[in-house]
Amino acid sequence: MSVRRILTVDQDLKVLKQKSAPVARVDDDLRALMDDMLETMYDAPGIGLAAIQVGVPKRVIVMDLARGDAPKEPRFFVNPEIVWTSEELAPYEEGCLSVPEIYEEVQRPATVRLRYLNYQGDAVEEEADGLFATCIQHEIDHLEGVLFIDYLSRLKRNRAVAKVRKAARDEAA
Ligand code: NI
Repeated sequence: MSVRRILTVDQDLKVLKQKSAPVARVDDDLRALMDDMLETMYDAPGIGLAAIQVGVPKRVIVMDLARGDAPKEPRFFVNPEIVWTSEELAPYEEGCLSVPEIYEEVQRPATVRLRYLNYQGDAVEEEADGLFATCIQHEIDHLEGVLFIDYLSRLKRNRAVAKVRKAARDEAA
């Protein structure tokens, strides 16, 4: 397992805007990618990561919503699809490892039903609400090349990208 570089909007916007392709088969190579993604996410640290964020345009997501010192609860989603969304929306102040240090409120369906293949390649269908619903929708957006800042006004989005760019410059200086 190894920690990979996480792409950010200031340097890698073109890759992050790319649409990811479905995975044909859950095999050991894919599990090795998922292991690296999980380690990269824990290292950051973050609660969700899509493969495109490490530059791999495949429909793969890792997530762990366990808080603080609670035991780890890694989850893996291959070819995830949302098959139902509630009409009720819920706001959440979102952040993203590809848009570091920026947090803005986004409204999304409060509950969703999703289908995916797990780490073993078994088909799973389940309902998500609360933070799980927010996070899985945010991560599935990444597979379509959509970032949470795309939901903000153009002014706020440009300001966010400028802030990330400035932080990267200050760090390099
Ligand atoms: Ni993100």
